[in-house]
Amino acid sequence: MKEILNAPFVKQMCKLTSNMYRMGWDERNGGNVSFLLDQEVVKDYLDINKVTKRIPINLDVKFLSGKIFIVTGTGKYFKNVEDDPSVNLGIIRVWEEGNGVDLLWGYEDGGAPTSELPSHLMTHIERLKIDPDHRVVIHTHATNIVAMTFVHDLTEREFTRTLWQMCTECMVVFPDGVGVLPWMLCGNDEIGQKTAEKMKEYRLVVWAHHGIFGTGRDIDETFGLIETVEKSAEIFIKIMHMPIKQTITDEQLRTLAKAFCVTPKSGFLNN
Ligand code: 13P
Ligand code: ZN
Repeated sequence: MKEILNAPFVKQMCKLTSNMYRMGWDERNGGNVSFLLDQEVVKDYLDINKVTKRIPINLDVKFLSGKIFIVTGTGKYFKNVEDDPSVNLGIIRVWEEGNGVDLLWGYEDGGAPTSELPSHLMTHIERLKIDPDHRVVIHTHATNIVAMTFVHDLTEREFTRTLWQMCTECMVVFPDGVGVLPWMLCGNDEIGQKTAEKMKEYRLVVWAHHGIFGTGRDIDETFGLIETVEKSAEIFIKIMHMPIKQTITDEQLRTLAKAFCVTPKSGFLNN
């Protein structure tokens, strides 16, 4: 058996959470990450028949039966993950019946998976239905995205259009736009269901006055997606007080989409 602390997925989680902390997005215990792992790879590092704890959940996620995830722990600080992965991270496997998870490794101080587990698991279900190669869900309190939800129209079309206009590469990175949810109580099934519903259409969902959920095929892609939206939101916050002399036009956004062979979200560009 290989040393689990050297497993690429543990190292990737450590690097990601440290980066996110340094971006200033994940104050205190803010943010959470879940990463769907390949069982064959996990087996090299862990006896997957050894369950350290059975954790019932108030959800039906049978679609994910037997799937193994590495997940940040609830109440854990991203700044500490790198120094102590086995306390701050856990590896869980979804029960056959879909209403609980087995802990296979981690949360060594008696901890538990993130309180946003319902949003993560329900999001994984919807994204896997759309893309079998989907793997990662990241939730974070990206500063400028949160700021933007106080001063900008929250309709998906208008929110997305502004983000596209702030930075040339945005159309190329998220032509499918961003979903937006109004303020809701976090950490429960309801926000999980609403988030997952949006994930049928979007890889990114903004939670007004709270943060963002991003999804993707690997950690780099998912982090990059959020980073690009956050950069765009930062430019918006920097310029919003000033008279705008020019912007990227819809015609230019169309030219970009054509050049990079992407399809802008239908109805989001003006005719
Ligand atoms: P957890 O510490 O339970 O992951 O919660 C952090 C958070 O960002 C809640 O939305
Ligand atoms: Zn949060």
